[in-house]
Amino acid sequence: MTQLTPLSFVETDLNALAERKGRVAVVVTPEGKLELSARRVNRLTKGAVQRFVASDGFAKVKPGQIMSMAWPAGMEASAVDVICLARNHSIEDARKVGATLGKLRGNGDILLALDSVRRAAEIAFGAVMRDYAFTDHKTSDKGHADGAIVVMCSRHDEIRTAVAPLLAIAEGTFMTRDLVNEPANVLTTTEFADRLSAMRDLGLEVEVLDESELEKIGMRTLLSVGQGSDSPSKVVVMQWNGGAKGDAPLALVGKGVVFDTGGISLKPAGGMEDMTMDMGGAGVVAGTMRALALRKAKANVVGLVGLVENMPSGNATRPGDVVTSMKGDTVEIINTDAEGRLVLCDVMWYAQERFEPAGMIDLATLTGAIIIGLGHENAGVFSNDDALCNAFLKAAMTEGEGAWRMPLGQAYDDMLKSRIADMKNVGGRAAGSVTAAQFLQRFVKPDMPWIHLDIAGVASVKSDTMLSPKGATGWGVMALNRLVADQFEG
Ligand code: BES
Ligand code: MN
Ligand code: ZN
Repeated sequence: MTQLTPLSFVETDLNALAERKGRVAVVVTPEGKLELSARRVNRLTKGAVQRFVASDGFAKVKPGQIMSMAWPAGMEASAVDVICLARNHSIEDARKVGATLGKLRGNGDILLALDSVRRAAEIAFGAVMRDYAFTDHKTSDKGHADGAIVVMCSRHDEIRTAVAPLLAIAEGTFMTRDLVNEPANVLTTTEFADRLSAMRDLGLEVEVLDESELEKIGMRTLLSVGQGSDSPSKVVVMQWNGGAKGDAPLALVGKGVVFDTGGISLKPAGGMEDMTMDMGGAGVVAGTMRALALRKAKANVVGLVGLVENMPSGNATRPGDVVTSMKGDTVEIINTDAEGRLVLCDVMWYAQERFEPAGMIDLATLTGAIIIGLGHENAGVFSNDDALCNAFLKAAMTEGEGAWRMPLGQAYDDMLKSRIADMKNVGGRAAGSVTAAQFLQRFVKPDMPWIHLDIAGVASVKSDTMLSPKGATGWGVMALNRLVADQFEG
């Protein structure tokens, strides 16, 4: 797994700043007030920091931005990074600062000389999150700098405590990114299941259901997706029982299509390589479970992923085939490329039958239509429960992960009527993301609070985001972790 940039902590020692090599970062407020270490750096540089905050240029600096001074006179440092941050900054501002520093780090160390513990933790988190590179398949370029991030702060045992749960989130996010970036010849269904099984070391209970077991419990719609592939279909169940015994868990369900060719309804060649990310929902479920286990969350959460590969072959599902779901409802498969919902509906049904969860959230790179609607800024949020939905939207907003609620309704559901079966798997071109969600809702029990997150636009992107380089983002790990912390712990 891609390793986190090492963080180390030292007690504040202003006398050490003069001899410090590498980069030194200090904080000033938008009003031009200097923190303690900024004052010392100002003194060492004969007033350079003060001249900067008094300049016209400083008036244009926004909170969260950084001004770098290279090879400052009076110091050994290669650069001083002056961070502009308000006293009451948002966590997003602090993380943005960290992300910028993470990019600036280059090959040396960077020292963050900071007064506030909370702020130092969020900045360090931003730096670690942004400093990710997927280099497993590069033979020489390891993309990664060797330096460390050193946080200088008074009360440095406090900062360790403050930063630990954030590093758990970062590690969970890195797992999601690695899984999503991994090509499909490496991340087969079996390899995916093996990587999840390895999380038993963290105290997660992990079960892998194989094809014969899935057959026995009647997951025919899921199996119909994988039947054209040489890779066996699997369902993996990960339980984290950190809450009170007997408390109903939150269920997280992920679409894990390790590659989506479209099946017999074959996709066009252009861009098909992007379908290695079609296991993004399962990737977020895995990363969230990892984060929860690492920070020993006091909640019961069960993660379930359906791992399949959608391939055309002599025994692949045909358009027009009718299959029976675990629930018992029959589905006419009009288009074998609308496979995600066929995987999810069986896993969602299984999750409810077996765990009677307090709530259920599914994540899937489900439709191209959600990218047409929302682009790469927001995931589509569909829900039958305003309270759970609003709690999720709030968590996502706090973490800076875009999420936008979309409608559900009977008229959309009517679009799934089939002439020969209980439903068909596509509703036509109009409102493609809504009819997909509507299909899933047919497998949600009455009164089960449920959210469907269509992450097709946000799971992997073609340009850098604030906290990730281009490629897999890990969208959702932070929001789901916060939702668990806010709603299901303590
Ligand atoms: N995995 C795709 C959706 C997708 C598209 C994810 C682009 C990420 C980027 C999904 O299985 C799919 O093929 N959906 C079809 C549904 C259609 C056949 C009703 C789509 O969106 O075109
Ligand atoms: Mn598809
Ligand atoms: Zn798909």
